[in-house]
Amino acid sequence: MTETTRYKDLGLVNTKEMFKKAMAGKYAIPAYNFNNMEQLQGIVIGCVESRSPVILQVSGGARKYANEVFLKYMAMGVVQMMKGPGGSVPIALHLDHGDSFEIAKSCIDSGFSSVMLDGSHHSFEENAKLTKQVVEYAHERDVTVEGELGVLAGIEDEVSSETSHYTKPEEVEKFLEETGVDSLAISIGTSHGAYKFKVKPGEQVPPLRFDILEEVERRLPGFPIVLHGASTVIPEYVEMINRYGGKMDNAVGIPEEQLRKAAASAVCKINIDSDGRLAMTAIIRKIFAENPAEFDPRKYLGPAREELVKMVKYKNEKVLGSAGKY
Ligand code: G3H
Ligand code: 13P
Ligand code: ZN
Repeated sequence: MTETTRYKDLGLVNTKEMFKKAMAGKYAIPAYNFNNMEQLQGIVIGCVESRSPVILQVSGGARKYANEVFLKYMAMGVVQMMKGPGGSVPIALHLDHGDSFEIAKSCIDSGFSSVMLDGSHHSFEENAKLTKQVVEYAHERDVTVEGELGVLAGIEDEVSSETSHYTKPEEVEKFLEETGVDSLAISIGTSHGAYKFKVKPGEQVPPLRFDILEEVERRLPGFPIVLHGASTVIPEYVEMINRYGGKMDNAVGIPEEQLRKAAASAVCKINIDSDGRLAMTAIIRKIFAENPAEFDPRKYLGPAREELVKMVKYKNEKVLGSAGKY
């Protein structure tokens, strides 16, 4: 039998307080995905240096990659590491796109402070039933739960959906009543991955459906909304990747201006994975192209981690508005 760990013993917090402050202050909490030590350190250092709260996200795939037992110690390690430099910021450890009660339970029992149950590909009833089951287990342990209504398009490893179905605002009140979730992810035109829209060079990407977001806000006043698939797909990194031997033609993301608008609304959590991947890949490609004899991982993973710190600070300060809040 594996030993149960509670998140409070790891120095983590759930998302309740962060969302309350973000809603009142009209900014969004960054939720960055990680899979390895360099990503985890880059994200946390960037957030501590910009005095921003942070949600560290782990997908089912990340859990398999890093090992679920090891992950707990990674989170514990990063909290301890950051205790000294400049005081700590609130850190939540969150399961991203959990697809079953079992995975949510296993994360809660191993020290996660927040979980997502993504039942968006099921019928409304199935989704609500599954989400409620997770909420009951989580709330008994003071763990917060994110649910989802509406389906995002995009293909990203194990998180996939061929098409996008916008959230139906008329369903949100019933979903909240039936499940008791603490936050709700909605589909308003974002998608996962680095190829979010099919546009020709120079063409504008279609705007997000802010009308749907506004209607959800009207129906759920003061309730925290989550935006998945919210990477900008930073053009400088795409250009760098292509310049140094990569091939990422037509990679395009959500314009920063639209994310700023979302962050100032009821959107309290903005999910970013692809941009972190691009930042690290761009730097590693550059180093390999310029120093083909390099074979010490510290010489490329170190600069990649530094670039991630830079990117995280920029996002927190200039896009999400979460910098300087702690
Ligand atoms: O929303 C999906 C995240 O970017 C996680 O992706 O399943 O490749 O870890 P992953
Ligand atoms: P991106 O692929 O746009 O970074 O989205 C990440 C995400 O939504 C993780 O849940
Ligand atoms: Zn997502």
